[in-house]
Amino acid sequence: MTRSVARAQWHPASWQSLTAAQQPSYPDKAAFERAISDLSRLPPIVTTWEIEALKEQIAKAQRGEAFVLQGGDCAESFDECTSENIVAKLKILLQMSLVMLYGLKKPVVRIGRMAGQYAKPRSADTETRDGTSLPSFRGDLVNRNPFTAEDRVPNPELILRGYERAALTLNFVRSLIDGGFADLHHPEYWDLDWVGHSKMSDEYHDIVRSISDSLDFLESITGRALHHTQRADIYAAHEGLHLSYEQAQTRFLGQRKRWYNLTTHFPWIGMRTANMDGAHVEYFRGIANPIGIKIGPGMTVEWLQNLLRVLNPNNEPGRISLIHRFGRKLIEDGLPELITAVRETGSPVLWVCDPMHGNTESTADGTKTRRFDNIVGELESAFKVHESMGSQLGGVHLELTGENVTECTGGARGLTDADLTRAYKSTVDPRLNYEQAMEIAMRIAGLRQVK
Ligand code: PEP
Ligand code: CO
Repeated sequence: MTRSVARAQWHPASWQSLTAAQQPSYPDKAAFERAISDLSRLPPIVTTWEIEALKEQIAKAQRGEAFVLQGGDCAESFDECTSENIVAKLKILLQMSLVMLYGLKKPVVRIGRMAGQYAKPRSADTETRDGTSLPSFRGDLVNRNPFTAEDRVPNPELILRGYERAALTLNFVRSLIDGGFADLHHPEYWDLDWVGHSKMSDEYHDIVRSISDSLDFLESITGRALHHTQRADIYAAHEGLHLSYEQAQTRFLGQRKRWYNLTTHFPWIGMRTANMDGAHVEYFRGIANPIGIKIGPGMTVEWLQNLLRVLNPNNEPGRISLIHRFGRKLIEDGLPELITAVRETGSPVLWVCDPMHGNTESTADGTKTRRFDNIVGELESAFKVHESMGSQLGGVHLELTGENVTECTGGARGLTDADLTRAYKSTVDPRLNYEQAMEIAMRIAGLRQVK
């Protein structure tokens, strides 16, 4: 019997009686309460029918009928909430999904780590430099990155600024899509100006030509336009870390008789905050959204089975995505027993590989990076392990950007540690750049040899 049986009645604030890890400590409590109360009066960012549509898509992916591409920044930043950045992110996700659709021959469900990915878990509450200790940077929703006392103090106003930017981001994405930006007839809209001549974009353009020819052919023989059925939706996802933020937009929808988190379609729970007695698990169990759970080294069979029992007691299809992030070295040893453990619970899950977070390392000068070979290596192992266990990898979770950054080493241009200083923009984890991300998409699509 699990502890879930003994849990009291859920309500959006029931998590508050438990220990909540990774929460900022606001010195001005009254200002914090005011910000949360203001937030709770604002309109939601997403709707329940979008959330339920995504849940259905994930249920399809669980049955092997679709593949999930989840990607975006490690942490969005307020400064980068610009037209150019949002368009670039959309373009890379659309290009990758087109390649994957072409190669895998199944629908690709696009979920951005965007429109609210503003809060970050940290390994320590404080950071010390030259004898000075300040609160750690927890993402733009909480405080600012520069190492000054003024920047690092958690500021409740940022909660509202973050929510507004999340709404602006998704509003712009929706307008672009409604305006035809994602129409398969016009993939030329998705070209990134700066890419110019590159092997990866040449291969991509060959695929685009082939798809366009097929579309023309189909439309000429059926006599009808296909674009309505081909509309590309983009869903939003972020780590559901800052529980007061999540709670403020958690609403009971009378028609559906369920509670929904309306800040995002797909919140996920990190492993650092997934302990059974913690506030995050309590909060997540009551919302009806499809949710992700990050799992990796240290996740035990019992823990995972308990999580599934509490978070998906009715074995609802589409509800749970397990995002595994073991690192290249550990995946083959660690994943199989968890696959068996999940099978024993009877809960359908979508298995998603995050080949980023288990492969982070530091260069000699202390820069955080990831090697492309390790990322591809973990992904390849993930496909293999699932296949050998009679399971199925149904999605991938990546940190990437459409910009021309140099944050991860390796890939088609063979970036080295020395290249990292050239265009390193992330304030948190290193992301794949355009070419590296497209190479991953081609490999998943089976268009290039997975190493
Ligand atoms: C993240 O997704 O940015 C993250 C912090 O991942 P994890 O919790 O899996 O380390
Ligand atoms: Co990250």
